[in-house]
Amino acid sequence: MASLASHRCLLFSLVIFSIWVSLSTASRDLSETSMKERHEKWMAQHGRVYKDAAEKLHRFKIFKANVEYIEAFNSAGAHKYKLGANQFADLTNEEFRASYNGFRPSKPNVLKAAVRSNFKYENFTAAPASMDWRTKGAVTPIKNQGQCGCCWAFSAVASTEGIHKLTTGKLISLSEQELVDCDTSGEDQGCNGGLMDNAFKFMIKNKGLTTEARYPYTATDGTCSSKKASASAATITGYEDVPANDESSLLKAVANQPVSVAIDAGGSDFQLYSSGVFTGECGTELDHGVTAVGLYSSGASNGTKYWLVKNSWGASWGEKGYIRMERDVDAEEGLCGIAMQASYPTA
Ligand SMILES: *[C@@H]1O[C@H](CO)[C@@H](O)[C@H](O)[C@H]1NC(C)=O
Ligand SMILES: *[C@@H]1O[C@H](CO)[C@@H](O)[C@H](O)[C@H]1NC(C)=O
Repeated sequence: MASLASHRCLLFSLVIFSIWVSLSTASRDLSETSMKERHEKWMAQHGRVYKDAAEKLHRFKIFKANVEYIEAFNSAGAHKYKLGANQFADLTNEEFRASYNGFRPSKPNVLKAAVRSNFKYENFTAAPASMDWRTKGAVTPIKNQGQCGCCWAFSAVASTEGIHKLTTGKLISLSEQELVDCDTSGEDQGCNGGLMDNAFKFMIKNKGLTTEARYPYTATDGTCSSKKASASAATITGYEDVPANDESSLLKAVANQPVSVAIDAGGSDFQLYSSGVFTGECGTELDHGVTAVGLYSSGASNGTKYWLVKNSWGASWGEKGYIRMERDVDAEEGLCGIAMQASYPTA
């Protein structure tokens, strides 16, 4: 009896085991299949083509890991922002950091603090509860820097487009490529990085910048065409640095015009950001130049104050190319260092 009982018991557990094995294999196959389908769909959506099957498999594995991270993050709740499988979903965070961004932080921060520049909005007190420079017609459509680290050019151009609109009434899309190709005698290095302040210096010296239409973006370092660059469409008279590490100063500036800001955009949450008010993870190693084109102080988003930031990674990243970044955080540098090296052109 005892042996029969134990036999039956063994048999029973074997049956259970084999059912479990077949079920779990099936569900694994299913999720692997649906993940492969998602990858195919994502590839079509983003026009991604891989050179061979090995590369495709390699990219699929990264895509899968990212999607699993995104889903775990989003279903965990309690986050003010969501992640999504955007155009960077088949890149590891290391690859992403290596090929996008392109802000080269100026080392002499100390020098910067000592030589304090003018800040024309120093005594401004009438900051509105919210401001969105897009609604004032001072922001051109989202652009895409592609795989060229010239965020600095996009950031400087966006704040220049803003001040040009505010002083002349005309919104003109200006040329990043002119900066990439022609602003090469100083520290700026086209697709290898640069600084917004240097771009402003170039615009002052060069007596302006031409239009995007006349000198279109190619996402590569090219030879400066003085013919294209000769027809200036917008000029600036100077630029000013916002006093560093002070979000209340940044508020005064952004309330008055779009402002170029440097941030640490290297984190995987920034890479895969899709919507909501971004609250981190990020550090303060400034590696990306973007443009603060608005602010929000109260009301929606459960009272989370934020900066409205225009990025240059196309409209499929974030909120149609924008990110809302938490404002007035505990760190004086601001979230992702947004208050560390802000500046704006004057006209
Ligand atoms: C701000 O006000 C102070 C005190 O009146 C004045 O000295 C300073 O020049 C003002 N700053 C600007 C930028 O107007
Ligand atoms: C705001 O609060 C509501 C209710 O508690 C919640 O459902 C919603 O997700 C919150 N939104 C954000 C952006 O945190």
